[in-house]
This record gives sequence, C-alpha cells and structure tokens, in this order.
Amino acid sequence: MILHSRSSKFFKMAVSNLQANRPPPIQLNSTTISFHKTSSINATITTLLAGEQILINDFYSDGLLLVKSLQDYLTKKHSTNSFQHQREYRAEYRALSNLILLEIQSHKLIVKKAPQIGWLKKLYPDETKFYLSFSQIQGLNSAWQWYINGISIPGIRNKIHPYYGVYFPTRFEHIQLFDHWLKYYTGTKKFAIDIGIGCGVLSLLLIKHGFQKSFGTDINPNAIIGLAESMGDTKLSRMIDIEMGHLFCNYDKKIELIVFNPPWIPIPKGEIVENLDEAIYYNEKLFSEFFIEAESRLLPDAKIAILFSNIAQITNSTDQHPIEQELLTGGRYKLVNCFKKDS
Ligand SMILES: C[S@@+](CC[C@H](N)C(=O)[O-])C[C@H]1O[C@@H](n2cnc3c(N)ncnc32)[C@H](O)[C@@H]1O
Repeated sequence: MILHSRSSKFFKMAVSNLQANRPPPIQLNSTTISFHKTSSINATITTLLAGEQILINDFYSDGLLLVKSLQDYLTKKHSTNSFQHQREYRAEYRALSNLILLEIQSHKLIVKKAPQIGWLKKLYPDETKFYLSFSQIQGLNSAWQWYINGISIPGIRNKIHPYYGVYFPTRFEHIQLFDHWLKYYTGTKKFAIDIGIGCGVLSLLLIKHGFQKSFGTDINPNAIIGLAESMGDTKLSRMIDIEMGHLFCNYDKKIELIVFNPPWIPIPKGEIVENLDEAIYYNEKLFSEFFIEAESRLLPDAKIAILFSNIAQITNSTDQHPIEQELLTGGRYKLVNCFKKDS
C-alpha cells in the first residue's frame, strides 16, 4: 500500500486503516485482590509471587508504593551485580509488575490523583472499560509527556512530537554529522529514500538541505500514523511521502540517495526477546536484504548514507559489523567516506 500524500483523501483513508501498536488490554480475574496504602506489602508480594493479579483502585500513589516495594524486594533477592543476576532481576520484575493492574474507564484511569494520558483515548478509541498494568501505564505516561512537550533536535527548526512507540533520537552526534554531510552534498536533489523513517528526522534534514522529495518507509505502523498526523495537510506532507512496510516496500524506481539509520543490535541467537523493539534489534537477514534491494534501485553515481551505531561491537556484545561485512564480501559497493566519532 503506497500512501500518496498528494491525494489527501486516499492518504487519510489508508492511514485510518492502520492498526497502531499499543499495550494490549488485560483481562481481570474475578478473584483479583486490591492493594492500598494500608495493605500488607509482604502479603501482596507473596500474592504476586503466586502469579495472582493485584488491582490498584484507590490512589495512583498506591501503585508507585507497590512497584517501589517490589523493586526493593527483587534487588535484595538478586543482590550481586552479575550479568546473570541482572537478567533474572529484569525478567522477574517484568513478570511480577505486569500483574499490578489499573482500571481505565472512558479513556481515563479511575484511581485518584492519576496522570492524564491522552494515549488512552487515541490508542483505545473503542474500549470503554479495560485494564493495563501499572508499568504499561507508566510507559504510556512518559510517552505522552514526550509527545505533548516535543523534543528539540539540533539542525531541525521545529520540535518533533514522537508518536507512541516510535523511535526518537536521544543523542544527536549522528544527526549533526548527517546535517553537516548534507551541507556539502553535491548530487542532484530530486529524490531520496529514507528507510525506517521513525519520527522523520532524517527526511526533515533532507528537505532542509534542498531535496525536493523524500519517500520514507517504516515497518512500525505507529511511525506512519504519527507522521501522517504531525504533517497533516502542510507543505511538508507534499514533500515527504510515507508507506508502512519492510525496507523499500513496493518502491521500484531508480534513486540518487538512500538514507538508513538502521537498528544496531543483532537479535541474540537462540534467544526469544519479548516485545522486540525493531528500532534497536535486527534479524540476521535485514542487512543482506537491504544491500541486495538497494543495489537494484540506485542510479549511476548514487549514494547510500548509513548512520550506524557500533555500540554493540564496542561493548563486545557482537563481533558482527554488517556494513564492514558487506564491503568486504558483497562486491556491490565502494566506500566513499566513513566518519567516526573521536574516542
Ligand atoms: C534506529 S531507528 C531510526 C529512525 C529514524 N530514521 C531516525 O533516524 O531517527 C530505526 C527505524 O527503522 C525501522 N525499521 C526496522 N526494521 C525495518 C524494516 N525492515 N523496514 C523498514 N523499517 C524498519 C524501525 O521501526 C525504526 O523506526
């Protein structure tokens, strides 16, 4: 499905058919016990350890108290700093904190003194009464703060307002580097492709530096929904086309520039990563598919700009460097420049 921004009627229809990623509503067991500030913490943690749900239905701060008590309990239990213990801590915390629930009615938390979280209406328009875990609510709350307050990115005039579940940069060296590189870019500036567009940061820089058009894809529907919302019917929406899907989607014309800020950590072999974040983790086929597909779409003298974090190599969590690997064995591309941060 290609979302043509020029034809806003079709564009809006196609976007409204996308299903946003969101924490799925949780079923409440009929036997669920409530927790409030006078309840016994030890007895409540024992209930959680038995795999039973706990409902927070008085004050929001009761949930904060229980989560803090659970963290203290697990810190004592997994007391060493070994990698194994930290992993066990995280896994147990995730499992137990997911049992602490809050009720949502008419898009609002029913507990007193709770934060107002607009995602409860935007992401659950048809759910009138449901439950989410306290930690999911905390995640939605901080995502809402980022969304309403926005984030300033060096080189980009307006703040970006990241939609729920969409990657946004929290460090900016690579953005500044790309901005600088574009300043001295000498090719024609008709059209570029931005693979994994996220909040649109790289496309905004392309447009700022005179590209007439950018086509951004993303496998995450929230990225497309968020960009469609933030661009609305503005001039920008006629310069940045977007489509949800894998790598180049159905785009098959030749292009002069491809930009890609890919995920940077390989999915650990033989491990199941829960709620895998595809902005961060890549599967073993992603880069080989990208390089094969890119080759068939490049005009003569066209370029690919990849912004790759080598943190996974520096921290020895992998010895793979998919771009160096491609240059070494692929026989498809010639390295023009490689800019690295001074260490
Ligand atoms: C590191 S983020 C970069 C986002 C944005 N380009 C930026 O620079 O801020 C990687 C993005 O690639 C997207 N992505 C991951 N795998 C993809 C795939 N196979 N096809 C298209 N997009 C993908 C993720 O959803 C995420 O938005």
